[in-house]
Amino acid sequence: MKITIINGPNLNLLGTRETDIYGSQNFESYLDSLKSLFKDVEIDYFQSNVEGEIINFIQKSKNSKGIILNAAAYTHTSVGIADAVKSIDCRVIEVHISNTYSREEFRHNSYLSPVVDGIIIGFGLNSYRLAIDSIIKDE
Ligand code: DQA
Repeated sequence: MKITIINGPNLNLLGTRETDIYGSQNFESYLDSLKSLFKDVEIDYFQSNVEGEIINFIQKSKNSKGIILNAAAYTHTSVGIADAVKSIDCRVIEVHISNTYSREEFRHNSYLSPVVDGIIIGFGLNSYRLAIDSIIKDE
């Protein structure tokens, strides 16, 4: 089973970026722990700071069992990413590391929430693990 994780802008800086909000672990080391936790799952990972590249990768990942999408700041701005999610049939879970609803008001709007299958917000990096669990248990 293949599950795709797509991370948006500035998430390549996890571990050093605003550590009071996002923690001090980088995503690569967290990804290693996910891979050893879910040995039977092929986890495909893509990160980009570029909106169009994220759209291209969503289109390319349409045959995954599920996509875990943290579009980061594009969550709050991107009609293009929302349209890409609508254009594919595979399950898409929106995740956020921080609780966006306890932060600035502009983070309370998500263009993605109305078009995804589920949303996991505010559990730190564990949001990704919970999203994988939800896709696997949906078998
Ligand atoms: C984020 C929340 C967004 O508001 C922010 O722009 C991010 C990360 C999160 O995972 O908590 O870059 O998606």
